[in-house]
Amino acid sequence: MTRDEIFARATDSTQYDSSTLDWPSEGSLPSPAMQPFRRSLRPELGDLSGKSVIDIGCGTGHLYTLFEELGARTVTGLEPSARNVAQARREFPKLALLHSSLADARPGAEFDVAVAVMSFEHQPDLRDAFRRVFGMLRPGGAFHLIFGDMAFHLTPRLGLRLESHEMPDGSIVIATGYPYGTIHDVIRPREHYERAARLEGFEIVRCVEMLPTPELFDVDPRWRDFASRPMAHLMVMRKPGR
Ligand SMILES: C[S@@+](CC[C@H](N)C(=O)[O-])C[C@H]1O[C@@H](n2cnc3c(N)ncnc32)[C@H](O)[C@@H]1O
Repeated sequence: MTRDEIFARATDSTQYDSSTLDWPSEGSLPSPAMQPFRRSLRPELGDLSGKSVIDIGCGTGHLYTLFEELGARTVTGLEPSARNVAQARREFPKLALLHSSLADARPGAEFDVAVAVMSFEHQPDLRDAFRRVFGMLRPGGAFHLIFGDMAFHLTPRLGLRLESHEMPDGSIVIATGYPYGTIHDVIRPREHYERAARLEGFEIVRCVEMLPTPELFDVDPRWRDFASRPMAHLMVMRKPGR
């Protein structure tokens, strides 16, 4: 595929409805692949009592159980894939769902906490994406963003098929062939996220490296080769105010 074709596929919000991609098998609550995200988010989110939470690109909605356990008052999932929305509705009936891409969503500034896990890899314009999340938060609201590490995504690993191209701005577009199907992503250096977030008004609180967790070593011992290498980053930021 050309660079432009991978970019177009990566930012097509219906990618996860492809018949050749079995995301529900990878992205559901019991999947070992989801546990690193839950482990990283839990201590950073802390007590969510009384708070309204939105999960941007919520996939199968598996984070609902974490937000509920931490005391969230309401949880909303924003998700453009019809198949993921259907699965989330079936599994988590108390999760309010907005069937929409981030660019098409129109909520007001009604959330205390926004979370996005590996969904900014599908946003065509980072600044626009941060602007929209900023607009959804109340003053003082927090945004927890998990994004993939560039070196990790470019490294041959676990027998996966990789096809990548560099973009003029220093990001890469990559098609990764997993056993459950091919995912197309835009992977950006951490500085791109930090710059775009600040330009849209966020204060960055901290950025935490996410390492592989024991659940992954149990699935495939080759994960141990990556035990000390970040596979993603959790950036915590705040909308000023209050
Ligand atoms: C790698 S999956 C991650 C799903 C979920 N956050 C998780 O951790 O399991 C990426 C998700 O982003 C969603 N997505 C793709 N394009 C999007 C867009 N433009 N706006 C919001 N979500 C999007 C996909 O449909 C998919 O569910």
